[in-house]
Amino acid sequence: MYIENVKKEMNLPEKVRIFDTTLRDGEQTPGVAITPDEKIRIAKRLDRLGVDVMEVGFPAASQGERKAAREIKSLGLNAQVCGLARVLQEDLDAALDSDVDYIHTFVGTSPLHREYKLHMSQEEILSKSVEAVEYIKDHGLIAEFSAEDATRTEFEFLKNVYSAVEDAGADIINVPDTVGVMVPTSMQRLIKNLKEVVKIPISVHCHDDFGLAVANSLVAVEAGAEQVHATINGLGERAGNASLEEVVMALVTSYGVKTNIKTEMLVGTSELVSRITGVKMPPNKAIVGENAFAHEAGIHVHGVLEKAETYEPLKPEMVGHTRRIVMGKHTGARAIRSKLDDYDIEMDEDQFCSLYDQVKKLGDKGKMVTDADLQALAETVLGRPKEEKVKLEGFTVMTGDNVLPTATVKLNIDGRIKTTAKTGVGPVDAAINAIQSLVRETADIELKEYNIEAITGGTNALAEVFVIMADKEGNSATGRSTVEDVVMASVEAVLDAINKILIGR
Ligand code: KIV
Ligand code: ZN
Repeated sequence: MYIENVKKEMNLPEKVRIFDTTLRDGEQTPGVAITPDEKIRIAKRLDRLGVDVMEVGFPAASQGERKAAREIKSLGLNAQVCGLARVLQEDLDAALDSDVDYIHTFVGTSPLHREYKLHMSQEEILSKSVEAVEYIKDHGLIAEFSAEDATRTEFEFLKNVYSAVEDAGADIINVPDTVGVMVPTSMQRLIKNLKEVVKIPISVHCHDDFGLAVANSLVAVEAGAEQVHATINGLGERAGNASLEEVVMALVTSYGVKTNIKTEMLVGTSELVSRITGVKMPPNKAIVGENAFAHEAGIHVHGVLEKAETYEPLKPEMVGHTRRIVMGKHTGARAIRSKLDDYDIEMDEDQFCSLYDQVKKLGDKGKMVTDADLQALAETVLGRPKEEKVKLEGFTVMTGDNVLPTATVKLNIDGRIKTTAKTGVGPVDAAINAIQSLVRETADIELKEYNIEAITGGTNALAEVFVIMADKEGNSATGRSTVEDVVMASVEAVLDAINKILIGR
């Protein structure tokens, strides 16, 4: 494979550390607020997932942040528990007060931040940074230093700041692409150049403003970064941070680089974070999206059923996902047969053709056929009598406000065409009354039970109607139909039952 040849030329590390910032930068996602209890639930899950460090908040921000950090620390997790702090005494004290074992301290270094936000000179920023790192180290904690907006900072100044904090005892430096302006080539070069300046490990923190956070994190690793900041589901300020699940799976599968993440827990973790934060994943989200391992097109499904790798870059179980074969207009007969096998549904060729036809028709109308839809359609096809004494030739219904619901039904009964119109409490009742009245000359068949269910959500959901009908002689039969129109489903179910009774007489 081409990628294998390229990999040989890369100087990749054996392992990369994952610094999770879901509970800090992730919580800065617009509209997201996580309560201390919810933070604890997520922290426990992140620990089981295997993150190396979890940044649990910004302790200076509130009592709640400090309390949550303290409680998380008291859980005795395997991961290091980190708090964020500006290079300010009060922030550092708040972090110390929250019992964390790791402080991530930062200051803006770019001209924009210096001039408009901080109103500080390069010299002031440099000395504050050194003081902050010394303060953290004096208290015996791990110190990670970030030059905020590093990627828009003059390289000479950036080198000076990072060298100064290294001399002050920082354990690791972090390079934030605060507004996501880097492209892979520039990110790779920046990390390479910084590797020539500092000896301590380098970490990266990439934002996704141009959709490049994951790519920029990966090239940073190629250039020598040993730690990546990431968030579950790519949550974070504005367009978010590098998504943990994407970074980890690319590292593991494309580069063959290890992490401590238990990849089979990724989907469950993504779902937990999504439920708690209320941020739903788009279906096509890489790795954890609902469609990440779903196949609809006939050609793809054929390939996947023969050998999954034809259209899957990794096994779904590896990330805790499951393969899904989705029925729609691209679905081939093979995929439908495989689903029927899964549900132990057997049918003859005519029945299968009728089912296949219905799936295609629904697909042409733009509808996805879910597993539940397919099972209901199959049950309907299987239950249908082979012979029809009463056939529907057509019907219309009229209903509305201040209108008496009326149905006109045209049936072919034993070769004779009959039509009638009847009223009812609603269009379904009117249609069933009309059918019963037309059939009455042949047999007096009554409706004994009527059930309707929408199989999947939405106003275009398939309606499944189930009826029980009986004649005066005590012959009874069930009838079933599954279509999108509730009146049509009711008419078909009633005729299904009537035909069964008439054939069985
Ligand atoms: O994006 C950023 O620059 C940050 C800093 C606090 C490191 O989140
Ligand atoms: Zn950030």
